[in-house]
Amino acid sequence: MDPITVLLDEVLEDIRPLRDGAPAGYIPELAAADPEHLALAVVGPRGRVRAVGDIGHEFTIQSISKPFVLALALADRGRDAVLRKVGAEPSGEPFNAISLEPGTGRPANPMVNAGAIATSALIPGDGVDDRTSRIAAGLSAFAGRSLWVDEQVYESESATGDRNRALAHLLRSHGILEGSVDVAVETYFRQCSLLVTVRDLAVMSATLAFGGVNPVTGERVVEEVVARDVLSIMTSCGMYDFSGEWLLRVGLPAKSGVSGGLLAVAPSQFGVAAFSPRLDVHGNSVRGIAVLETLAERFGMHTL
Ligand code: DON
Repeated sequence: MDPITVLLDEVLEDIRPLRDGAPAGYIPELAAADPEHLALAVVGPRGRVRAVGDIGHEFTIQSISKPFVLALALADRGRDAVLRKVGAEPSGEPFNAISLEPGTGRPANPMVNAGAIATSALIPGDGVDDRTSRIAAGLSAFAGRSLWVDEQVYESESATGDRNRALAHLLRSHGILEGSVDVAVETYFRQCSLLVTVRDLAVMSATLAFGGVNPVTGERVVEEVVARDVLSIMTSCGMYDFSGEWLLRVGLPAKSGVSGGLLAVAPSQFGVAAFSPRLDVHGNSVRGIAVLETLAERFGMHTL
């Protein structure tokens, strides 16, 4: 192992004994996750990947899809068109709260579910399959390999997704969502059910860190201004109602998902991702946060 991988392994072993939290319970397939899984990956400027722990394990991307679908929407539609449908303000509320702006009905930001459903609906396409293919192709370019939907998780999420359906109906009542509620929600469920590894998340994070260029494939996935816009929203809203304390403790733009993934971006330096399914009350990975906090402290990563 090279010296950096040794350090990453030490950090992982330091936090391994943490036992707080539990896998997400509201999506039955996620509740069945092995809570012991633990992994960490870092990708630097030349695309070198360093990964430790359960690095081969695949899990669904869940809410970590949101910043990348936002990037695709910004690239396709432009910032003004996106801002007409979704705000850029931290909600201070849980990820599944209603969080709609009084009057306009715009969701607070693209990281909470309501805002993510509105953002996903901005991706052009005809029906669920076409839209999902575009989203999957875009996220695959961020990851540098083809990503596929976990059909079992998708079915499980769709079967229990009434709260998200209700949010989508509210969005439609305000004219934020213009097309079919079913198409919007099923596309969103399929985007959340894309399978990734911790390495994929670190590469996706690094693509944002390096201004929209994937450092592994060399491909420009989005323009620099799009990557910067996404990082701005992740900084203020990425960790939901923990975003303020996260910025205080770790100081990096980040995004979490309910299957236990967590990525953070050190702009112009590296992308980092962790995976551990035990979640706290905010729906963020307990050991993922602990890993990032330890890395930030030991290596002075805080950007402020
Ligand atoms: O819509 C949902 O509830 C899930 N598909 C995603 C939520 C999520 O990942 C929240 N993040 N921690």
